[in-house]
Amino acid sequence: MADKLIIFDTTLRDGEQSPGASMTKDEKLRIARQLERLKVDVIEAGFAASSNGDFEAVQTIANAIKDSTICSLSRANDRDIARAAEALKGANSARIHTFIATSPLHMEKKLRMTPEQVLEQAKQSVRFARNLVGDIEFSPEDGYRSDVDFLCRVLETVIAEGATTINVPDTVGYAIPELYGNFIKTLRERIPNSDKAIWSVHCHNDLGMAVANSLAGVKIGGARQVECTINGLGERAGNCSLEEVVMAVKTRRDYFNLDLGIDTQHIVAASRMVSQTTGFVVQPNKAVVGANAFAHASGIHQDGVLKARDTYEIMRAEDVGWSANKIVLGKLSGRNAFKQRLQELGVQLDSETEINAAFARFKELADRKSEIFDEDILALVSDESVTS
Ligand code: KIV
Ligand code: ZN
Repeated sequence: MADKLIIFDTTLRDGEQSPGASMTKDEKLRIARQLERLKVDVIEAGFAASSNGDFEAVQTIANAIKDSTICSLSRANDRDIARAAEALKGANSARIHTFIATSPLHMEKKLRMTPEQVLEQAKQSVRFARNLVGDIEFSPEDGYRSDVDFLCRVLETVIAEGATTINVPDTVGYAIPELYGNFIKTLRERIPNSDKAIWSVHCHNDLGMAVANSLAGVKIGGARQVECTINGLGERAGNCSLEEVVMAVKTRRDYFNLDLGIDTQHIVAASRMVSQTTGFVVQPNKAVVGANAFAHASGIHQDGVLKARDTYEIMRAEDVGWSANKIVLGKLSGRNAFKQRLQELGVQLDSETEINAAFARFKELADRKSEIFDEDILALVSDESVTS
């Protein structure tokens, strides 16, 4: 039987950290409902101790959403953890996600703590959290740039204290797929109690490799949870994109051999909702959710897709929630695509001669206008056609 890959969505926490992407409680609840429809396994609803507003957002989502685990982030201190537990009280299934930085740079310059102090604080925090909630995730912030021996000590300790998920962040997007995959593998091999926890990947996109790094963490490292956001929203260049990682694992099941609980038909609606709420426009050529992701503009491609969709499509537009693949008619389009569009519009031309004449007028128009809309086609054929 295939393992399940847990999808942990952090659009409402790490995604919201993107400058200009902050959301109101109602907006977060609306998005959380869409994530539940999508059957996301874990929703990180916010950082309860960071503000009263975020506390209320986590609390509201914990009370309203019943099918996904609801998680709150918290620094590794008792006050933050207690606040997270309080906000999560109404959840059917609650998780506390606690973190502390473990890289030499972060410990020395940011925390001004020694490694031994960090180790002790991680241990005490997980011990404290474990008494409040059963499901505890621990993240060594900037984990990928941490000393591997020290990281092994920290992670072994927090697993012994009861952490049930170990998440290894590439906080600054510095990783390379093969190296990150092997890093996770090394940690799992070297830590004696590593099989007591689920391993998770959390990759930022500073070098454009967040999805590739996450997938390497899964394939090479054996991680079984991916942390991601809708549209890859997140600080700086963003986080690993949910739609890309999910569709990669689904489309290449032959390679990953993993099950997903995600109902992919709700992906496009989730993408639009996040884009409209934050005002962050999705680039047209963005994989899976970009307006052109399933559009075929060249004549050869259009002809191929009309004959057999697999010629130029590796996934179905309707599987991610697009109404159908979009053939964009323009000057490169062929006669076959034009004829097919006439049929879809319910236009019947009586003879091949009429079709040829209409196609010639279409080509003339396409030389002047970059995209031809359905209205243009209807106008082109209005004199000699019968519309059914
Ligand atoms: O990128 C990061 O390190 C984080 C942690 C808080 C998990 O978002
Ligand atoms: Zn992050």
